[in-house]
Amino acid sequence: MTQHTNARSTSTNTTPSGLGRRSFLGGAAAAGMTGAAFGTPAHAAGVRTGTRGRGGRFRGKSVLITGATSGIGRATAIAFAAEGAHVGFCGRRAESGRAVEREIRDAGGEATYIQADVRVADQVQRFVDRVASTYGGIDVAFNNAGVGSGKLPHEMSVEEWDNVQATNARGVFLAIKYEVPHMLRAGGGVIICTSSSAAEQARPNGAAYTASKRAVQGVVKAAALAYGTKGIRVNALLPGTTDTPFVRPPGIADGDWATYKPAFGRLNIDGLERMAEAGEIARAVLGLASDDFPYMTGSSVAVDGGSTAGRKMIHPGAP
Ligand SMILES: NC(=O)c1ccc[n+]([C@@H]2O[C@H](COP(=O)([O-])OP(=O)(O)OC[C@H]3O[C@@H](n4cnc5c(N)ncnc54)[C@H](OP(=O)(O)O)[C@@H]3O)[C@@H](O)[C@H]2O)c1
Repeated sequence: MTQHTNARSTSTNTTPSGLGRRSFLGGAAAAGMTGAAFGTPAHAAGVRTGTRGRGGRFRGKSVLITGATSGIGRATAIAFAAEGAHVGFCGRRAESGRAVEREIRDAGGEATYIQADVRVADQVQRFVDRVASTYGGIDVAFNNAGVGSGKLPHEMSVEEWDNVQATNARGVFLAIKYEVPHMLRAGGGVIICTSSSAAEQARPNGAAYTASKRAVQGVVKAAALAYGTKGIRVNALLPGTTDTPFVRPPGIADGDWATYKPAFGRLNIDGLERMAEAGEIARAVLGLASDDFPYMTGSSVAVDGGSTAGRKMIHPGAP
């Protein structure tokens, strides 16, 4: 890890009726509100693997990621490693975590999976401290772990509400709480937290999710103010609907998904009229973590293909 200077980054609704699958992305999944294991090969996620022959904007940098056992986090871990970073990441699913770690190492990169649940303070602290001790500090933190939920307020259990807030909002707070001391000691760092386009665009069944992702924006703004003069930049990333296990219905056949996915984009996403690939979101994360945005902090950066600029909105069918 290198010394930081101030202001541095690091030198570091409408469901296609023919498919008859209204629940696929009905509100919940469209904003990334479901979740199930569904392995996506790196190439299919728009991710380039391997470090050999690459420039390496992050060569030797220590990068921490929460929630990289699948989806956006996994794609970002692969992308950072491909640019020379040493990546420490967590998630609850050990088998998936070890698979991502192996994938990165097999491609010539450096990564360590550490099992941790972002809802549990001492697990987050242990994870953060272990990444810092393994890789010599923390240059970049991508606080990304999240879960969805798609229920109308009167149908949602109190436990589900609490779980969404504990993961998405409290989890980001805990990560920042334990990351910042390492960055202060080093004189700076970059923190990026995953919010969502759903923070800006509520849906009838999105109360818990939208509230949690707005909370992320709030934590980010406060942290940006708290640590700006200490060389730590903090920004929120707002992905739009992205093809990850979060939005894919569990067990859907690849062929059905290949039909459904473009139709969903055309009907529900203004602007680019398609979902993002996880690798496209990862590239935005790397950009924000790079030296290219030294004056950006406290911002909410939408990478959503234009969906929040437009008017279309996935409507789950409120009563
Ligand atoms: N896909 C979208 O359309 C979309 C849109 C906007 C925002 N987002 C946000 O993007 C982030 C990543 O989602 P994704 O689309 O990549 O979905 P995903 O493939 O389901 O990934 C979610 C990640 O979060 C981890 N996670 C969940 N709960 C956790 C916990 N308690 N402790 C530790 N890790 C936990 C999961 O790991 P384990 O299951 O192994 O714990 C997994 O690695 C989330 O914050 C999501 O809200 C997604």
